[in-house]
Amino acid sequence: MHVLQGQVAVVTGGAGGIGEAICRGLAQAGCAVVVGYNSSEGPALALAAQLAPVGLAHTALKAPVTDSAALAVLADTVQQRYGRCDILVNCAGTTRFVAHSDLDGLDDTLIDQILATNVRGPFAAVRALKPLLAAPRADGATGVVVNISSIAAVSAMGSNIMYCASKAAVDNMTKSLARALAPHIRVLSVSPGLADTEFVKSMDPAWRDEQASRTPLKRLAMPEEVAAAVVTAVAHLTFTTGAIIPVDGGRPLA
Ligand SMILES: NC(=O)c1ccc[n+]([C@@H]2O[C@H](COP(=O)([O-])OP(=O)(O)OC[C@H]3O[C@@H](n4cnc5c(N)ncnc54)[C@H](OP(=O)(O)O)[C@@H]3O)[C@@H](O)[C@H]2O)c1
Repeated sequence: MHVLQGQVAVVTGGAGGIGEAICRGLAQAGCAVVVGYNSSEGPALALAAQLAPVGLAHTALKAPVTDSAALAVLADTVQQRYGRCDILVNCAGTTRFVAHSDLDGLDDTLIDQILATNVRGPFAAVRALKPLLAAPRADGATGVVVNISSIAAVSAMGSNIMYCASKAAVDNMTKSLARALAPHIRVLSVSPGLADTEFVKSMDPAWRDEQASRTPLKRLAMPEEVAAAVVTAVAHLTFTTGAIIPVDGGRPLA
């Protein structure tokens, strides 16, 4: 069960719908988890207190991905508390629904916010934690970065044009970083289709049903299935880097 026992994972956006499932999955696999938050300090602290015990304490730490100075503080704190970081999951992300035909609705402020959070953010987190991720390990294992992308990267269907473009950039960056950081750090994207988070559950049921009906497996992704892909990629796909792993029920096939 505890395939990742003794390892330390930082999850940005750790208290969000998908991030929470990833934190739970990594803790169940034996990791000490740093639940990274931006505005959700209370939920992040509560989650860290609830995660499966693994020996080392889980913690919640501020991880605002658009603030590189704060990410440097995060890396220092992880170094001081744990002396290591084996896994970084870049799960923080932002978007807002704007119809693709509404170019004026996608204003520069929103574009900058999406690109700074979804593209610059994961890069900045990797940059800050690289010395810890690349540190040699006794068993020869690599550090691992998992970027949470989206099917929107390839389908160009999603909450707005810039969100789709930001996830395409994430997948492209996954490949560049995998090449640049080998052989010490593996870098992967996990690319979910629409996931049945509390936010998505709160949306028009007719819209959700339509999304499910357009998916060959006839349902949405469960956050736990995204988490299982992350844990599998980290623990078992040990000769895989630069790959985009879909968790989308076959949606691009329909
Ligand atoms: N839900 C889906 O259907 C779906 C499908 C494909 C891909 N994804 C991707 O999965 C990831 C998680 O999405 P979700 O559905 O779980 O969304 P969510 O519940 O809205 O969570 C978003 C998370 O991102 C964090 N965040 C936003 N801006 C941030 C910033 N500047 N710095 C640090 N953290 C920031 C938030 O942290 P705070 O709450 O602490 O502010 C929150 O934890 C995103 O990258 C998203 O694009 C989602």
